[in-house]
This record gives sequence, C-alpha cells and structure tokens, in this order.
Amino acid sequence: MFANLDRTRYEPVAIRIEKDGRWVLADRPPTAASAADVISQMREADGPAGGREVLMPACPGDDTLLLVNPDRSAITGLGLDVIFPVLHGPYGEDGTVQGLLDLANVAYVGCGVLASAAGMDKDVAKTLFQARGLRVAPWVVVRAAQWLADRDVVARRINDTLTYPVFVKPANLGSSLGISKVHTPDGLGAAIDLAAGFDPKVVVETGVTGAREIECGVLGNDAPEASVPGEIVPSGEFYDFDAKYLSGASREVIPAALPREIADEVRRQSLVAFDAIDGTGLARVDFLLAASGELCLNEINTMPGFTTISMYAKLWAASGVTYPALIDRLVALALERHLSQQQRRISAF
Ligand SMILES: Nc1ncnc2c1ncn2[C@@H]1O[C@H](COP(=O)(O)OP(=O)(O)O)[C@@H](O)[C@H]1O
Ligand SMILES: [Mg+2]
Repeated sequence: MFANLDRTRYEPVAIRIEKDGRWVLADRPPTAASAADVISQMREADGPAGGREVLMPACPGDDTLLLVNPDRSAITGLGLDVIFPVLHGPYGEDGTVQGLLDLANVAYVGCGVLASAAGMDKDVAKTLFQARGLRVAPWVVVRAAQWLADRDVVARRINDTLTYPVFVKPANLGSSLGISKVHTPDGLGAAIDLAAGFDPKVVVETGVTGAREIECGVLGNDAPEASVPGEIVPSGEFYDFDAKYLSGASREVIPAALPREIADEVRRQSLVAFDAIDGTGLARVDFLLAASGELCLNEINTMPGFTTISMYAKLWAASGVTYPALIDRLVALALERHLSQQQRRISAF
C-alpha cells in the first residue's frame, strides 16, 4: 500500500506492532507486496526492532500518538488524521483495536467495534446472516468446556445434526488456521482438539460439496456498493493455509465465470451481509457455490488482505476503481464516519 500512496495527498506514517504487542514507529516503510511476503518477513524477524515506541493517549487532542525515545529521554507528539488498521485476525480485525481507536476518538478506516467483532465470530456472523434470510451451511457450536466434559455427547450431537464431510473451525481466527476437513466421524476428535487449541469456541459445519469459492468486495458507509464477484481456485483439497499463502498455485478468476443471475445474487447477498453485521467502509464477502447451483454464504472479512495483488483490490480494479482511488474512497469514508460519530449525542446533558 505504501508504494501506491499519492504523496501529494498523503503523508504516510508506518507503525509496526511487534510480536510482544508494542507499537513501534517503523524506521522504513513496509515492503511486503503480498501476504506471502508478510509471512516470510514475520518468520525472518528474530526479535523486536529498535525504534521509537508509539503510545496512544486515551484523550489525544492534537497529538494522536506519542513517540517515546528508546532510552525514554524524550516524548514527542504526532498528529494523524486517519489510521488505516491493516491488521488481520484476533486483536486486529475483531473490534479490539477499533475500540481502542474509538476511545481515543481517532478516525480509522473500515468497520467499527460491533461489525468487526460480529464478522470475526463465525457463529455470530452465521446467526446474523441466517436472520436476514441468507443461506449458510448448517452448523453446531462446540464449547471447549462441553467437549472436555463429555466428548461422546458432543460427537453425537454433531453426527445427528450434520452430514459429512464437515469442516471444524476455531470460531474466531482466520487464514484457515486450525481448520480441518473431516470425512468420517472418527476424525472428529482430533479436529476439535486442534480447533479448541486456537479458540474455546469451535464451529463444526456441513461441507458444501463441489463448492466453488466466490468472493465479492463491498465498499461504502450508508450506500455501500458491491464489486464484480471473483473466484478462487485453491491448489489443494480446500483453501487451507498452504493453498492461501505458501504454494503460490491457487488461481483467481476475475470476474468469476458465473451466469448473470448468480453474479447479481452474489452482489445482492454481499450487501445484505454487510448490513447484517452493521458494516462500514469495506469488507470482502466469501461464498461457497455448491455443485447444485445453491449459493451458501461462508464468511465476511472486515479487513480483507489489502495488498495491490489481494483479491479485494483486484475485484475493485475489475469494477473500475483503481487502487489509489480505493484508498481515497476508504479514507474519505473513515473521515465521514468519524464525523458522524462526533455528532452523536451520548448523554442527556
Ligand atoms: N462448509 C464448507 N464447505 C466447503 N468448504 C469449506 C466450508 N467451510 C470452509 N471451507 C473451506 O475452508 C476454507 C477456510 O474456511 P473459512 O471459513 O473461510 O475460514 P478462514 O476465516 O480461516 O478463511 C474456505 O475457503 C473453504 O476452502
Ligand atoms: Mg475464508
């Protein structure tokens, strides 16, 4: 993203979050051009980099952030107009960082606390989608405590409710981590153990047979728009971590080769899903299109991959919105949302 920012309009400041959670002013702009680059850079990083620590005061005023010298010798202020939290997964895309930015009254790109948290939790999101009449794969929630207490009862509930193969997933994670495709009941235990290691709430759902993976971009606040749909053709049996980031062999087809009515339906449902979670700014909505032609909503990503070669950017490019224009729109939407939040009455006095 950095390489593509128009420097006549923006003065970007890169903030890294170290593995130990500290925010640090990056000494050079990020160079990762793809998710695979990010992963290899994270693997190579052997410890926290130096650099000035960044703190966010609860009530920032003109200085959005405070920069602290490594030896704590000086603290200086840094004013920012908008923060673009290009963060994925827990503590980045699940409403927590959004809550921090709300408390500090800073404008930021994308969904707020509720939409981020609801979109992140696969059980909550499916419940909201279903309430809006969108089809989702049948699912069962397993709590780690129930699983530890009585595996047989839980397994029976799953076997009585769902048909195999099933997908077993941590409720809140992403990047396909901890997800297994289970073909027969005897594989269930290991898959739930694995997923429960990532989240005490596990979602088990019926596999959609012969599914094609269709994705659609959403952009906007009060009048959001949907992009053309695209298709992912995973290199493996399903779109697992390896197929997403490592093998390099998964393919994208943009726009997806779909009959007009199905493409229109994907776009319509994407906007309903965005509204169902109270989305603002952006999201990517992912579907599974069954061999039978039935469309099933799989998930919503409130901070989709955002490199120039990410699906979200390519979907909008194919819909006539270039990457620089996309950034402009998102920044404008962030400022618009922030302004309307400022105008809210939150007290009787
Ligand atoms: N019910 C399902 N039927 C068929 N494939 C599925 C199903 N659920 C997940 N998958 C496969 O697993 C991948 C990852 O699951 P997903 O729910 O999208 O998790 P993540 O949030 O980690 O991306 C999907 O892209 C798809 O390939
Ligand atoms: Mg996914």
